[in-house]
Amino acid sequence: MKNDLFLRALRGEKVERPPVWMMRQAGRYLPDYMKLREKYSFFERVETPELTTEITVMPVHQVGVDAAIIFSDILVIPQALEVEVQMIPGTGPVIPDPIRTKEQVEAIPEIDVKDRLHYVMDALRLTKQELNDAVPLIGFAGSPWTVFCYMVEGKGSKTFDKAKAFCYTQPEAAHLLLEKITHATIAYLKEKVASGADAIQIFDSWGGLLSPVDYEIFSLRYIREIVEAIHHLAPVIVFGKGCWFALEEMAQMPVSALGIDWTISPHMAREFTQYHVTLQGNFDPARLLSPIPEIKKLARQMVDNFGKYRYVANLGHGILPNIPVAHAKAFVEAIKEYG
Ligand code: CP3
Repeated sequence: MKNDLFLRALRGEKVERPPVWMMRQAGRYLPDYMKLREKYSFFERVETPELTTEITVMPVHQVGVDAAIIFSDILVIPQALEVEVQMIPGTGPVIPDPIRTKEQVEAIPEIDVKDRLHYVMDALRLTKQELNDAVPLIGFAGSPWTVFCYMVEGKGSKTFDKAKAFCYTQPEAAHLLLEKITHATIAYLKEKVASGADAIQIFDSWGGLLSPVDYEIFSLRYIREIVEAIHHLAPVIVFGKGCWFALEEMAQMPVSALGIDWTISPHMAREFTQYHVTLQGNFDPARLLSPIPEIKKLARQMVDNFGKYRYVANLGHGILPNIPVAHAKAFVEAIKEYG
């Protein structure tokens, strides 16, 4: 690997400077991506390895990040489980027939992930070729809880109250669904590593909606099951949006890094995790709207506060569609110029 800063930071090794990449970097704010979006539907982009590869390497070439993340979506897992997912431009994901009964959960079949999601594996192999070991390639999945939220709610939501209602009124059916998602996700991530992913990130975007007690019951135990099944195959990063309350517990898992959002200070996050793991984050994505000198100053301060080692510079959640490319670049440059 020509640039292995990211993998070294995940192993806790000394680095000249911290590596940097941005969640959701492969897409929506890049003009070249928007052009492809006019020509091909979302799932055409996701299911055509040549398009997926082109989109995945875009931010490496255009913004200069130290890692690529394969262009895909967390909702390919429900699709593989034969639950229909539509991506409506301007609205987001819609599941026309959401899961609301035990019978529906029981009807979800055992599937061969390798067969159903072969296009993801083809895309990983093609992207590895295209990257030619310039930077590492990240594979990802949603946490079982976050995927469950969409499967039960049927669409995005600020509160996911239907998903929560399902957990609290039909816990047995909810756990059966979470188990089915967990098993498919483990098989999926193992196959992703076999197809070339150098590291894995699990996105628990909606974990922060749960109370600390419910977080362990409905989210963390399933994340732990996944981490335990794959950590010996590749380094694993767990990003829990709004999950600061669980950081201490999360640091006990065999993860290489924990992702954090911008609502916790670097100091507190280090206190909770005690340098057991590398931390990744946590620039407020909306702060990329600030003038460039301000972005650079805040990015440098962020590294000062996390420290240079056991740290991966990133945003605290996905990059927003209205961020100018020059601002994203300035953020990346500030980290590259550090020290
Ligand atoms: O760097 C990358 O962008 C890699 C690819 C990636 C996508 N989705 C592509 C995408 C990744 C890592 C995801 C993860 C994802 N998808 C998450 C977890 C991360 C997070 O942001 O919390 C979640 C919750 C989803 C579900 C999802 N997919 C939503 C809510 C939406 C609609 C809103 C949005 O983000 O625009 C999507 C659609 C989606 N997934 C788009 C992209 C580029 C936008 C659609 C388009 O460009 O046509």
